[in-house]
Amino acid sequence: MLRYTIPATTANLGPGFDTLGLAINIYSEFQVTSAEKDVFYIHDWQDNLLSIDKSDNLLNKSLLEFADYYQLTLPSIEIREKLKVPLARGMGSSAAAILGGLTAGAIATGILPAKDDFVEMAVKLEGHPDNVLPALFGGLIINYSDQERIFYEKIEIDPELNFILVIPDFELKTSELREILPKNVDYSTVLFNMSRVALLVKSFLTKDWQLLENAMQDKLHQPFRSAKIPGFNKIIATAYAAGARGAALSGAGPTILAITDKNPEKIAGAMCATCLDYGIKAEYLIAKADNQGLYNQLEELLK
Ligand code: HSE
Repeated sequence: MLRYTIPATTANLGPGFDTLGLAINIYSEFQVTSAEKDVFYIHDWQDNLLSIDKSDNLLNKSLLEFADYYQLTLPSIEIREKLKVPLARGMGSSAAAILGGLTAGAIATGILPAKDDFVEMAVKLEGHPDNVLPALFGGLIINYSDQERIFYEKIEIDPELNFILVIPDFELKTSELREILPKNVDYSTVLFNMSRVALLVKSFLTKDWQLLENAMQDKLHQPFRSAKIPGFNKIIATAYAAGARGAALSGAGPTILAITDKNPEKIAGAMCATCLDYGIKAEYLIAKADNQGLYNQLEELLK
């Protein structure tokens, strides 16, 4: 039996729509064992065993993609996945399933995919790179692409920072949250976001946390998606009033991310209380960045 873990992620960080994502130290756990036939056991973050429809399951799709990519037949395996983040909340649960399935394929066959090949398979399955890349390589990942391939740069994140994730008790599907975005945006919106992304990168590189409040503003996606979260602007304002350095939607939402170097419990509690004022029950997690990711583990496993 082989085990590996995959970090949860928080994408966009405000202005970095589809281009920025960060790995955090909350790890979904996987075990792969050889078996008579393929069997998957997936436990959600409350430890309920999920019943899965195999034809529509991301673990299974990812295994099939691995087999197709390398043009081979996989031996049968049993995969056990224990999710540590809730589904459909903007914390990378689908990226974990995709990378979990591809890694299971690698373990079953002993093939260590080159980094670029792993990225190509994962992004094809996920549709956008900003969760799968940080889960694979750790840290804050900036991705960019041309017609042919995806490139990325990693910034290691200071362990001093706390990432608070306030998780509402309802799901929102990323695919639906992409459909509500406008098809076109004007120059002023693009300029607004470009300047914030530049500031955000400076903030993380120089550890100047005072920049984060302006740097995490966004006009490309949050104004449209936040309408689905009652009290969103008030929850963000509460985070700042309680001392957060930055705050934004986590991925497409509905989870809300706040970043702080101090008093994370106090900020998280205040944000959850504001959620309740708007009728939303919310839980929180407090994490640090993960600067390792999955790929290093796979290299060790397949040595
Ligand atoms: N960047 C994606 C979005 C979510 O905002 O739709 C994370 O992959």
